Amino acid sequence: MNALDLYGANFPGRILFGSGVRNQVPGLVDELLAGQQPRVMAVCSKSVLKTVPGKELIDGLKGKIVKTFTDVPHDPPVQCVDQIIAEIRAGDANLVVALGGGSVMDAAKSAAILACAEGKTADFLNGKLPMPNATIPVIALPTTAGTGSEVTKNTVLSDHDANVKKSLRSPLLVPKAAIVDPDFTQGLSFTISRDSGLDALTQAIESFISLGANRLTRGLAREAIVLLMAHLESACTTDVNITRVRVAEGSLIGGLAFGQSGLGAVHGLAHPIGHALGTTHGLTCAILLPHILKWNLPATKEEYQELAQTIGAGNTPEDFLTAVQKLCQILEVPETFKSYNLKQEHFDYIIKNCRSGSMKANPRPMLDDDIKQLLNSLL
Ligand SMILES: [Fe+2]
Repeated sequence: MNALDLYGANFPGRILFGSGVRNQVPGLVDELLAGQQPRVMAVCSKSVLKTVPGKELIDGLKGKIVKTFTDVPHDPPVQCVDQIIAEIRAGDANLVVALGGGSVMDAAKSAAILACAEGKTADFLNGKLPMPNATIPVIALPTTAGTGSEVTKNTVLSDHDANVKKSLRSPLLVPKAAIVDPDFTQGLSFTISRDSGLDALTQAIESFISLGANRLTRGLAREAIVLLMAHLESACTTDVNITRVRVAEGSLIGGLAFGQSGLGAVHGLAHPIGHALGTTHGLTCAILLPHILKWNLPATKEEYQELAQTIGAGNTPEDFLTAVQKLCQILEVPETFKSYNLKQEHFDYIIKNCRSGSMKANPRPMLDDDIKQLLNSLL
């Protein structure tokens, strides 16, 4: 029996999508706490707090917030999670609201679960301690489109002492509620829109062709790919707000897919490459995407053909590949890591640290020599 015939799903208990759904958060806090006095730990991106929707959300939670944390760097280090845990304990918080991009949501989700046990974040990340079996409930509001972290059961953290970037995984990392309000993504810069949008597209495509895909995830991933391929270019390059709404929707639906199916070699390689070069997750995925799609072609002809036909790009598997390559070109994604100083000295580290669940789910196995060859072409 393969994954297409036997599967489960783990989604947030509540998913709200659409312009203005952020205004339902205060009521949701009361509902989730079922009569308890709300003591909310707000983990927010600093820049979002200066926006109209960000201010509105925080104003709406007045009287409920006990602590606010706004210092989450990208690729959040384990020490940042330790700091949030200390704040959660200092405020005796009973609910976490995460408002930001993937880094903010990952740091907040990690702190919410790890606050329920004793120990340093690094020890959980490096497997010295088992993941706790309880969590403080989380309401996640993505402000980029996106990483999908608002609906997934993992978080990505950096441990600079151990020189790794890896995932915490637990079914309890799925937020209690995912509130996706595309108003937060209006007016984001070209670079953030492009990099997060191509991360979302990568996730949807990797989910569709993943060895862990099933009919439920394929349906979701297909719809996400349709939305993202149709609207990402316009969302990044014009002021047409509706296209940003569609990209936010594509990111959410893609997150629901890959959260169950797993990903592939782009994500397997993106973590060690991003850690070695300091490139952001979205950009690293965007650079890798066309190369890995091409590598996977012999194992994914049927899927690419279906996708080419579905998005109206043509009738052959190669037509899908070309459509993605074209989108990356239009969005000025660099073709290699040349300007980010990828060197042969990095190869051993990347190969040693890429064998994650994502890599195992890739439809065409990549041996160490295959990876070396690919990296050589990206110098
Ligand atoms: Fe990603």
